[in-house]
Amino acid sequence: MTETSSSSVHRSSSSGPLVGVTGSTGAVGGRVAAALAEAGVRQRLVVRDASRAPQLDGAEVAEATYGDHEASVAALRGVDVLFMVSAAEAPDRRAQHLDFVAAAAEAGVGHVVYTSFQGAAPDAVFTLARDHWATEEALRSSGMQVTLLRDSFYLDVLPEFADEQGVLRGPAGSGRVAAVARADVADVVAAVLQEPSAHAGATYELTGSEAVSLEEAAARLAGALGRPFSFVDETLDEAYASRQRWQPEPWQADAWVSTYTSIASGEVSRVTTDVRDLTGHDPLTIETLFGARGA
Ligand SMILES: NC(=O)c1ccc[n+]([C@@H]2O[C@H](COP(=O)([O-])OP(=O)(O)OC[C@H]3O[C@@H](n4cnc5c(N)ncnc54)[C@H](OP(=O)(O)O)[C@@H]3O)[C@@H](O)[C@H]2O)c1
Repeated sequence: MTETSSSSVHRSSSSGPLVGVTGSTGAVGGRVAAALAEAGVRQRLVVRDASRAPQLDGAEVAEATYGDHEASVAALRGVDVLFMVSAAEAPDRRAQHLDFVAAAAEAGVGHVVYTSFQGAAPDAVFTLARDHWATEEALRSSGMQVTLLRDSFYLDVLPEFADEQGVLRGPAGSGRVAAVARADVADVVAAVLQEPSAHAGATYELTGSEAVSLEEAAARLAGALGRPFSFVDETLDEAYASRQRWQPEPWQADAWVSTYTSIASGEVSRVTTDVRDLTGHDPLTIETLFGARGA
């Protein structure tokens, strides 16, 4: 995984800052890493399993899992700017995040770019946005430079909210969500990582170009994907009851149900121009994201 091109403008610079990229085996981080490789940025992919790291020119690979403090410090030594993707949902995700932030500070990382959540707050309706707030607080008090990217819900996962019959079900009422595509989030991250000092201290809210109710989203998903989608507004009790078939732990059920109550509350309805401002292109919509995929 070393630089092979000797003349290309995409050549890796051995003197530029070293960018640490987490999550490169996933959707957002994978796209970020590919964009940085294309731009010739020196990067270290911090992954949980080196055998699954993408093969990219100019990229080093180091292994660490959030929460494994020793491995995280070792993997982050020498990293100047770190892209920290939020971890997979887990009961101890908050603790994993706080440990990884501490490891980054201990390793001497100068600047962290973190994917937070729109409306992150200690009392956010969406329960996982409270963990994002705690992570933000840890970053703010770490002494490192910080850039916060507060993402809305991912547009990509909207169809996955639906059951086998295409029914989106939850207590969202007529609330609206300004969902953002993962590709747009990744494009913002890649832009920020290529000029980090210009974004030090900034908080961006990454949204689509519009906020839609789930009823509208269902109708438009049906049009774009060519199969039926509909929305059923549940009461809170109905929402917890209908999710019991998966036997979630209480924290998981709260996270699932509060996805919908956060939409009802208006917490994720604000539309910003941050994606356009930072990438120079319009955010993807239901039609432009899903339409090309066909049925
Ligand atoms: N805004 C939203 O609607 C929304 C929806 C879903 C997820 N998210 C959050 O956004 C993040 C990125 O989204 P995505 O679509 O790129 O997710 P993804 O495709 O599932 O990728 C997640 C990446 O994070 C890595 N990762 C997960 N837990 C980790 C841990 N404890 N320590 C180290 N690395 C870890 C994964 O590594 P492995 O390959 O080893 O698992 C993978 O590379 C997710 O991890 C999740 O926190 C947000």
